Formats: sequence, structure tokens, C-alpha cells
Amino acid sequence: MRILTKDIGKYEGKEIELLGWVDVRRDHGKLIFIDLRDRTGIAQVVFLPNNKELHEVADTLRSEWVVSIKGTVAKRPKGMINEKILSGQYEIAATGLEVITQAKTPPFDLQNDGKDIGEDVRLKYRYLDLRRPRLQKNIRMRAKVNQFIREFLSAQDFVEVETPIISKSTPEGARDYLVPSRVHSGKFYALPQSPQQYKQLLMVAGMERYFQIARCFRDEDTRGDRQPEFTQLDIELSFPTQEEILSLIESLFINLVKVLYPEKRITQTPFPRLSYKEAMEKYNSDKPDLRKDKNDPNELAFVFVVDFPAFEWKESEKRWDATHHPFTKPNVLNAEDFKKKFKEDAGAIFAEQYDLALNGFEIAGGSIRIHDSALLQSVFEAMGNKTEDVIAKFGHMLEAFQYGVPPHGGIASGLDRVMAILENEPNIREVIAFPKTGDGRDLMMDAPSDVTDDQLRELHIKVREK
Ligand code: AMO
Repeated sequence: MRILTKDIGKYEGKEIELLGWVDVRRDHGKLIFIDLRDRTGIAQVVFLPNNKELHEVADTLRSEWVVSIKGTVAKRPKGMINEKILSGQYEIAATGLEVITQAKTPPFDLQNDGKDIGEDVRLKYRYLDLRRPRLQKNIRMRAKVNQFIREFLSAQDFVEVETPIISKSTPEGARDYLVPSRVHSGKFYALPQSPQQYKQLLMVAGMERYFQIARCFRDEDTRGDRQPEFTQLDIELSFPTQEEILSLIESLFINLVKVLYPEKRITQTPFPRLSYKEAMEKYNSDKPDLRKDKNDPNELAFVFVVDFPAFEWKESEKRWDATHHPFTKPNVLNAEDFKKKFKEDAGAIFAEQYDLALNGFEIAGGSIRIHDSALLQSVFEAMGNKTEDVIAKFGHMLEAFQYGVPPHGGIASGLDRVMAILENEPNIREVIAFPKTGDGRDLMMDAPSDVTDDQLRELHIKVREK
């Protein structure tokens, strides 16, 4: 039976079997030492010269070979104890060895943190890069964070609902990824920039408390804190106040840090709040970094930014656009009141909208939504959409809101950013198993890639020469 390296201490004096990878091999004269690595850590194995046959096979072992090793667990001699690793008091005196698969020499070192290795080669061989302890930890902690979130929200009566990936565009301000339809010639699905419309429709559907750990797609230039596909913790509630949403997300993060990152300190709780105006005047940023000591890797400075203006002028398009998204409720009484105030001074209308920043990064944003279809239509039109376009694009929302819609609102948090900050990583690629490069490629899979003429024909698509 296989024993994990973390458990070898329980088997002192017994013969066990270990399965895993050769982490390193060290030759000490006649003794050969192997660090055997599995998902729980490392165990030291020693091959003694008296078993000649075994010793000879051990001599051929190289890093990253996959092996099965049998041996007897013994306390290490004093002076050989390694306090840094779980199994550091023990070693295995090998009695058997089977090479399961050999490995080519990896294109880069897997022992260190990998920060000095060119990123292109790391991403091309991501399955090797992920073997390094730093990335193992990032990905495993990410899974724990997801699990924590699921338990925390489920315990408060939230329902996890999956929403479609091939769907229709939702305006979050970025370019859409389009998916051509084979069956409906010339028509396209869009990948969701967020589940925004679906979560609002789930409120119409009476779910009342929804969450999803949702993949979002935005065709925009990649940066340190931006990926073309990324993950949101997406939340929506019926009959909420802004206060209720802020305190929910605040208690989620406070508890998450307490349980999973106890070494970290939160600068101030309850999280401080700044109006958008104050943030801009005082810090010249809508996501100010309020850490007291920016060199401290264990300081977490959360801050809510509230009272955003509902609309901002887009000079390039010569029109007003929603600061957050058009479903956000402006602070007006109704459609008539909105039209009047918009005409008077669009920039002076505030929205029930909020962001959460952490150490200078925007990690969440949300709002109370418009649930009055006449007001929603007026907002779309004020932003320069023709009535018939609004009906074509958002008719389903306007219609749904005529069947008994509860007031609703929510928030979405960028989990990649949250993880990067919690793990003290300089960018979100380090906390995503298979991220894209700056120009949106997957170097390991070689995507995007060519497709056959037949595939294109089936999709009714002709590629234009540049
Ligand atoms: P918003 O567009 O502000 O809101 O997105 C919410 C959070 O998602 C993160 N984020 C990203 N992370 C990585 N890469 C990206 N390209 C990227 N874009 C955004 C940020 C951001 O704060 N539907 C609304 C939420 C709502 O109103 O409930 C929305 O998507 O951390």
C-alpha cells in the first residue's frame, strides 16, 4: 500500500512503499540519497552499497523520474535531521526500487521559486512549472479559498448557480469574445464578460441569494492584474441595502483571512470607507493603497470606495457612459426624474455603487440595480442607444422586470487579484494554473491556432486577409 511522505513518521521500523518523483539525487561516496517528492512533500531515501543490484539502479536515477520505492523507515542520525520538512526526522533505507517512467531533463530548474526564469518558457512547460513548491502552494491555497467561500456563503442561505458560458453579450465595458453559430448562419454567441444579467434574472426567478465562482471573458489587453479570462466571486441578493452587501463581503474577507491566512494583519476593521470624491482628492486614486507599511508582506489594507458618480463622459465617443454598468441604479426617483436630472447635469447624478480595494488593487465592485424597466430603458437611451437597439439587446430584461421583480443588488470580486495579493505574488498569472501571455496566447496548447477550411465552412465564416 502506498504511504504518503508526510506520514512516514507513523511507520518507524516498518517497511513501506512510496510513489512519486525524484526531486534530487545526491551521491555521498558509496551512499546515494534521493529526495522523493509527492503531493504532501519530500522524504529522504538512502541506498546503501551492500545491496549492489539496487544500488546500481539507484545510480541511474535522475530528477523528475517517477518511481516506486520500498524501504524501512528509520530515525535519521543526529545531525542529519531537517527541521524544515515534515518528514525531516526520518529516512527510508531502500529495499526496492522500480522506475515507473523516466523523464527528460526539464528545460528549467524546478527547485527554486522560478522568478528568474523567462516567463515564455515557464508558460510553455506550465505542467512542469506547476511542480515547483511556490506554485503548488498558490494553486492549493486557491482551492481552499474557493472551498471557504462556498461554505461561508452556503451557510448564509446563498445558492450556487451555474450560468451559461455561450450566451449573449453583457455590457461591462470591454470587447466581447464571439462564438459563431453553426446552426444559425451568420449569428454569434458572446462569452459573458460577467454573469450580470443572469444573476439579475435569477432574482426575478425568486432565488433571492445567489453566488457563483464564475469565469468571465473580456477581450482586452492583458496586464499584471488582467487576464482575458478570469474568475469572479459573483453575488446577488434580493431586497438588500447597500449596507448589507458591504458588511457581507467585509465579513467574508475578514473570516477568510483569519482562517486561511492567520499570519496576515488587516490594517483596519471595520474596513474604512471613502467617497469616490475623497479618494480622488486625497489619494488621486479610486483604489488607494492604505497600508501603513508598504514593505510589510503581511499587511492587508481593505477600503470601500462609495458614492460614485453614475455617469462619466466618454470623450472618444462623445457620449455619457455608465461608470459601473448600465444596470446600476442612479440616485433618482423614477424615469421622469432621471430624464430631468440627466439633462440638467448628468455628471452630478450619483449611483448606489461601491468598490472594494485591497493594497491598491480593485478587488470587487458592485451596485444596487435598477428594477424599474422604464428607468432602465431611459438610462440605456441616455447613453446613446436607439430605442429599437435597446429592445433588441435588452428586451428580455425589460420584459422580465414586468413580472414582479424584487429590488436587488450585488457585488463581484476578482478572485485572481485576491489570491495574488494573499500569496504576495506580483501578478495574477502566478495564481492561475494555465494563464495567457500578455498578447492573449496559451503557449502550452498553442492557442489561438488555425482551424481547417471545413470547420470554417461549417460555421459560415470566411477569413479576410489583413
Ligand atoms: P467589474 O467589471 O467591476 O464588475 O468586475 C468585478 C471585479 O472583477 C475583477 N476584474 C478582473 N480581474 C482579472 N482580469 C480582468 N480582466 C478583470 N476585470 C475585472 C476586478 C473587479 O473589481 N458584473 C459586475 C459586478 C456587479 O455589479 O455585481 C462586474 O463584473 O477585481
